[in-house]
Amino acid sequence: MGFSPDFLDEIRNRLPVSDVVGRKVRLVRKGREHLGLCPFHNEKTPSFTVNDDKGFYHCFGCGAHGDVINFVLETEGLSFPETIERLAGQAGLQMPEYTPEDSQRNKVRKTLYDVMEAVAHWFESQLVSAIGNEGRSYLQKRGLSKETIKKFRIGYSPDERTALKSAMLARSEITEEMLIDTGMLIKPEDGSESYDRFRGRVMFPITDRQGRVVAFGGRALKENAKAKYLNSPETPLFHKGRLLYNLSGARKAAFEKGRLLVTEGYMDVIALAQAGFEEAVAPLGTAVTEDQVREMWRLAPEPFMCFDGDKAGQRAAIRVVERSLSLLKPGYSLRFVYLPDGEDPDSFVNGHGRKAFEKLLEEGMPLASVLWSDLIGHAQYDTPEKRAGLEQKISQVLSEIKDSKIRGYYESEYGKRLKKLFGGEFVPEINLHERVDSKLNKKNQPSEWWSKERNANNYKRGNTEKSIGELHKTEIGKSRGSSRKGRERLIILTVLEHPWLLERHEELFATFEFESVELDKVRNEIIRIASRDSNLEKKDLRHQLIENGLGQVIEIIFRQGVWTAQSVTGPESSKEETEEKWKHCIELFQLERLEKEIASYGSKDLNEEEYARLQALKEEHSASLTKLTTAMEH
Ligand code: UTP
Ligand code: MN
Repeated sequence: MGFSPDFLDEIRNRLPVSDVVGRKVRLVRKGREHLGLCPFHNEKTPSFTVNDDKGFYHCFGCGAHGDVINFVLETEGLSFPETIERLAGQAGLQMPEYTPEDSQRNKVRKTLYDVMEAVAHWFESQLVSAIGNEGRSYLQKRGLSKETIKKFRIGYSPDERTALKSAMLARSEITEEMLIDTGMLIKPEDGSESYDRFRGRVMFPITDRQGRVVAFGGRALKENAKAKYLNSPETPLFHKGRLLYNLSGARKAAFEKGRLLVTEGYMDVIALAQAGFEEAVAPLGTAVTEDQVREMWRLAPEPFMCFDGDKAGQRAAIRVVERSLSLLKPGYSLRFVYLPDGEDPDSFVNGHGRKAFEKLLEEGMPLASVLWSDLIGHAQYDTPEKRAGLEQKISQVLSEIKDSKIRGYYESEYGKRLKKLFGGEFVPEINLHERVDSKLNKKNQPSEWWSKERNANNYKRGNTEKSIGELHKTEIGKSRGSSRKGRERLIILTVLEHPWLLERHEELFATFEFESVELDKVRNEIIRIASRDSNLEKKDLRHQLIENGLGQVIEIIFRQGVWTAQSVTGPESSKEETEEKWKHCIELFQLERLEKEIASYGSKDLNEEEYARLQALKEEHSASLTKLTTAMEH
């Protein structure tokens, strides 16, 4: 529906921005403007201004900017026509009617809405009457309270051929044709009498965005009924693919909480609402459509898709991912919540409670991760062909993302993940301890990795074995068994205690590949600080890092680093000792990287190139190991 520019201007002219904004935001007058806390971003000091003369609001903090219409659109989650309708009402303006067909259609719709309202009301009355006995006990069995039943306007359709038909036709304003048009009666092709579509079912009214009843879902009472759920057909009022169940009911809570939950079924929505999650909606017995995804984004930027924990639920999730790729826009995405197998949100929240469900939500996976795991699947990417195949598949799928900014981020993120995947990071880490231990315990049963080494025939077995054993006894060797992050911290901690290390080893430190993002940040900052100050004092370094907002990380490094660090960085250790141990610590990582790469060749048949590469790696490995162990023996 288009609105004429004049009509929109009339709305803008009649409604001062401060009036409309003032309903949501506390405004204080300041000269010609009003000032308040910005509703579009989090702030403690006001930078949100409203100027009635110019007719717009502007936030100097986040750049939000617009007029009355934008404001309602952005803060209420209404569509454009709904926004205009609301503002027109506030401005005391009649909504324009356009072509004669338009207004004719509106009139017809209006009466059909009335029919649906009457039907919903009648179903409700049947549920509480004697005839609705079975329906009532069913709902009770499913744990629905009286309040919930009332709130969702749940009703009952008697198990008779024409109960609804007779009740409705008894009213003068309702005709058989209307009941057929709204899908409430079925008119057989053979010309025989029309009859009730819904019989002997618990009835869930489906409302449109404005809360008007436009359709029904009816649930059979018996578990083995032919159609568990029967839904209204498409009618002039009802377009399945565009609507979501409980859209109007969820809107308020969704806005307040900034969050939307999307389930698969009516009962899930209702059970969640009863448990306090009123921000839940569901598609209407079909797969989620693009229109529905757009609709969800009006309510929250990152709706949670809570699908059943079975295979079908997971497939449905993937279909949603595929469908929404082309729709992604900056700031908007989806999250995916995985329920335990065999559960749906209804059973889960009833069985495990509100807190447990809240926890599930916290663990919701971003769309990028769900898509990634679907893309890589369970396959092994151990040949160039398979890797190329995966890369091709990924770029094909990502090309569906229309927004170029988002596509760019996905490409670089997935590029990184691919590198990690192919770089052998996903190969289970070989634990040196285990190897050494099992070697010591079962002398004649070399572990797999070991025997491969021997077959490769250029490994100085005796020597290395002994060396690793000894390495194991040293402090750094011990630290090898602790977590990677712990050891990364140790490297930083040592530099924090002994900044003079950087004079000689800046390069080594600067190029070390930290797995931890925050430690990487600390390292970069240290390098930056050191580059300005050649004779860096320990106190100054720490001070500057704290000043640059890294105080918390530094504290964690100090707190958790102390015990492993003592032997390396303690005040009792000499300069030479510290330097040597610190270097070894870094070299150990290098050694592990080599081991990982060697292991990634596994037991597969190697081509010439791979074989050569493996030999080179082994030589490098053996050399580093020797270097490291001789150094330690000193
Ligand atoms: P479910 O079978 O998962 O629904 O189907 P549910 O809400 O969990 O059902 P119960 O009452 O707890 O057993 C999910 C949705 O698929 C549609 C309905 O919209 C249902 O809510 N559906 C399901 C149908 O339209 N027809 C059916 O026969 C089954
Ligand atoms: Mn269910």
